[in-house]
Amino acid sequence: MDKFVIQGGNRLQGEIQVSGAKNAAVGLIPAVLLCDEECVLENVPDISDVSICLRILYELGASVEMLKPDTYRINCKGVRGFSVPYESAKQMRASYYFLGALLGRTGKARVSMPGGCPLGDRPIDQHLKAFSALGARSCNDHGMIDLSADKLVGGQIYFDVVTVGATMNAMLAAVKAEGLTIIENAAKEPHIVDLANFLNSMGADIMGAGTDVIKIRGVSYLHGTTYAVIPDQIEAGTFMVAAAATGGDVLVKGVIPKHLEPITNKMKKIGVNIEEFDDAVRVWVDGPLVKTSIKTQPHPGFPTDMQPQMATLLTLAEGTSVVTEGVWEQRFRYVEELRRMGADIAVNDKVAIITGTGKLMGAPVKACDLRAGAALIIAGLAANGVTEIEDIHHIERGYGNIEEKLRGIGGDIRKVSTPPTAMKKAL
Ligand code: EPZ
Repeated sequence: MDKFVIQGGNRLQGEIQVSGAKNAAVGLIPAVLLCDEECVLENVPDISDVSICLRILYELGASVEMLKPDTYRINCKGVRGFSVPYESAKQMRASYYFLGALLGRTGKARVSMPGGCPLGDRPIDQHLKAFSALGARSCNDHGMIDLSADKLVGGQIYFDVVTVGATMNAMLAAVKAEGLTIIENAAKEPHIVDLANFLNSMGADIMGAGTDVIKIRGVSYLHGTTYAVIPDQIEAGTFMVAAAATGGDVLVKGVIPKHLEPITNKMKKIGVNIEEFDDAVRVWVDGPLVKTSIKTQPHPGFPTDMQPQMATLLTLAEGTSVVTEGVWEQRFRYVEELRRMGADIAVNDKVAIITGTGKLMGAPVKACDLRAGAALIIAGLAANGVTEIEDIHHIERGYGNIEEKLRGIGGDIRKVSTPPTAMKKAL
């Protein structure tokens, strides 16, 4: 079992590079199934969710070749299968993108119900509604979702909730359907735009991505392409908050500052200095941090995937802050762990009241999901003393080499592996 051991108290300083976006990459990789020519994907993050996506493609019959640590050549010409088994799908939420991509490719898909972070009820009714609007039949057969369509035909899709996954899945299924598809109440996250740009670079005809109405005119053929995944907005935001929490001065490089605006605006409000450059932001603190209120919302609102990290920063700010979770039912499971580190946070349903104590202390804690784990790393870096974080596989789903990156700006964080024999003895 691996864990992170952090000696807190170092002020982070220097330059840190952001990788490609997890939530874009996990959509773009299945999207390659819509094309039978060679595609090269660049700026692919080195994270376990990406490895799983690539393995699923390989298991379906694609050739997958790593050209550089962040660049893959993929050819789906040899893909014959249309089924993603439980063992692969259960490991990540984004395995649902294989539903849309395989349906768009073959008119058939069989994918196990997806796994992923435990954030409360995670229905896929809107995904199925979109597939149905395009003419697909669906059924749940012993935990496997079965989709089939004699022919996919463009249709009108109105989402009852703003959903990233269903918007991207509808795009994947519609891109080669006959005629026009109109998606209304679509999600607007940067990764939605990235998927549209990627598919358009293969010859698709998608307009309006990034607004709440997306129009897709089906094309019969997609060709190969070379495309770079956008930078990870949430990894960037996590480093920005880590810099602020340690009173540091850090240049976060390789970002699109526009994508960071919801985060930047809130951080400025609590007293963090942020200077934007073309593809970098400098974050530094030279005064006290102050309370604020945050409500997470779909883009361009404050991202739910930054909520635990910002809440951690607010434990170090003066005054009482209010954080309201507007997307997921259960995204405060990390609070108990932060309390072990001295945080004063009261949670009532979807609202957390944070009384800033100005300091945290090191403690043994557990990452209960991906962003919860990121929050605990930030807490550990800012705390007095040593923090040990268990269950770091959650963190490695979405952050590549995070300990190395943070060490590069002065963080005292090590990954420690307990050999299986030592574990046996301890038991
Ligand atoms: C994506 O999840 C991200 N995951 C999540 O990031 C992120 O928290 C979330 O979008 C919101 O930004 C990936 O991109 C792989 P949704 P997704 O569909 O697509 C409800 C992280 O930490 N809903 O936008 O699964 C749902 O219950 C992860 O990187 C339905 O009711 O989220 C939720 O309340 C965690 N029916 C809301 O919509 C549906 O069919 C938004 O979910 C689908 C969703």
